Amino acid sequence: MASEGDKLWGGRFVGSIDPIMEMFNSSVSYDQRMWSADIRGSQAYVKALEKAGLVSPTEMEHILTGLDQIHEEWSKGTFVLTKADEDIHTANERRLKELIGEPAGKLHTGRSRNDQVVTDMRLWLRDSCSALHLHLTRLIRTMVDRAAIEIDILFPGYTHMQRAQPIRWSHWILSHAVALCRDAERLGELRKRINVLPLGSGAIAGNPLGVDRELLRKELAFDSISLNSMDATSERDFIAEFLFWASLCMTHLSKMSEDLIIYSTKEFSFVTLSDSYSTGSSLMPQKKNPDSLELIRSKAGRVFGRCSGFLMTLKGLPSTYNKDLQEDKEAMFDVYDTVCAVLQVASGVISTLQINKEGMEKALSPDMLATDIAYYLVRKGMPFRQAHGLSGKVVQLAETKGIALNKLSLEDLKSISPLFSNDVSKVWNYTNSVEQYTAAGGTAKSCVVAQVEQLRTWLKKSQESVI
Ligand code: ARG
Repeated sequence: MASEGDKLWGGRFVGSIDPIMEMFNSSVSYDQRMWSADIRGSQAYVKALEKAGLVSPTEMEHILTGLDQIHEEWSKGTFVLTKADEDIHTANERRLKELIGEPAGKLHTGRSRNDQVVTDMRLWLRDSCSALHLHLTRLIRTMVDRAAIEIDILFPGYTHMQRAQPIRWSHWILSHAVALCRDAERLGELRKRINVLPLGSGAIAGNPLGVDRELLRKELAFDSISLNSMDATSERDFIAEFLFWASLCMTHLSKMSEDLIIYSTKEFSFVTLSDSYSTGSSLMPQKKNPDSLELIRSKAGRVFGRCSGFLMTLKGLPSTYNKDLQEDKEAMFDVYDTVCAVLQVASGVISTLQINKEGMEKALSPDMLATDIAYYLVRKGMPFRQAHGLSGKVVQLAETKGIALNKLSLEDLKSISPLFSNDVSKVWNYTNSVEQYTAAGGTAKSCVVAQVEQLRTWLKKSQESVI
């Protein structure tokens, strides 16, 4: 059992910590992921201490050399944690002392783990957002490329899960891609609020020893400096925002997965998932299950849980740092890992998916052209409400006769409105149907081409200004 006196904060303690409490309190098993950020923060901090005259240039050199060695140990996987290492901050400082002796004790001058931990998290999450952005734009590119190639394929669009109107398959793909573009933009905006320096705020009141926070900001490449030390050490808005960002992004991916799961059923047979992203049943040999998509859908629930769970943690807290905040890290890491994996699997699914062009086109039925009949009458000068009513009559007549809409004779149609003439035959064509929707954002080919072009420009721009 470690004695409290062995701890870096152990000065006032005489007793030993309960072993269960020691494990309960420890975060090193997961916060060691921030080892590099922690070292980076310390490297910057010792420079600020040197500038403030709190460590000599030689002491600074010793500390920097020691930190470099610790960096090497972590990179090589040779860093050995001890039982008393409570978190990554105490572990690195303990090791520094072993390596360089006394000057190590000066590194934490005026610093608290409160400003240290949140600096590490901001550094870690800043880089991680860039990685997520990259995976997200790769997925969007995969979708846009697919949409460009398969632009001529038509299939039913659904509302309320009922056949609604014929649309282009590419229009469906891009409807999901644009939501992901918003996610990518939102991630860029969130990154700006992550990129604020808290170091130099101490435990709560600030830094009393004149460290130059502008130097720290520059060293750590933060955009700005936090305004209030009490807020800086305890606010976790950036984590909550990240978790919400991930929740919304997962909602989009879950929705797309749900569509594809339905489209891959025998009943729909619009798409077939690649074997690489499906699994079989241990009992029913005929089955091919869309596990990849189901897991994406399920991970949305996991991410929402992390988001709402962490908000619960935050809501009851009084001002400034409380140990409850240690819970922020597992939420952040888990959500990052989950979304990172999901984005890569989604890219794989979309790029390897096979579509069944005939099946898609066969699923288009003349009843889906009822709106087109109304538009036909509108184009002949009839008010839309009246045209809608008469188109309903056309549907009813076809139903009474037990035939498809397009099998009604011209006489049948004329009995409903004298405005029907020979040119009504053009309505019974799905390509003509989709080609009506030429207003920007519609499913006409020219509009979908425009969407592809716009998204390609967006992708090019986001590649140039990688967040
Ligand atoms: N491991 C702690 C955390 O992650 C570091 C901060 C500890 N601060 C303190 N005052 N005990 O939140």
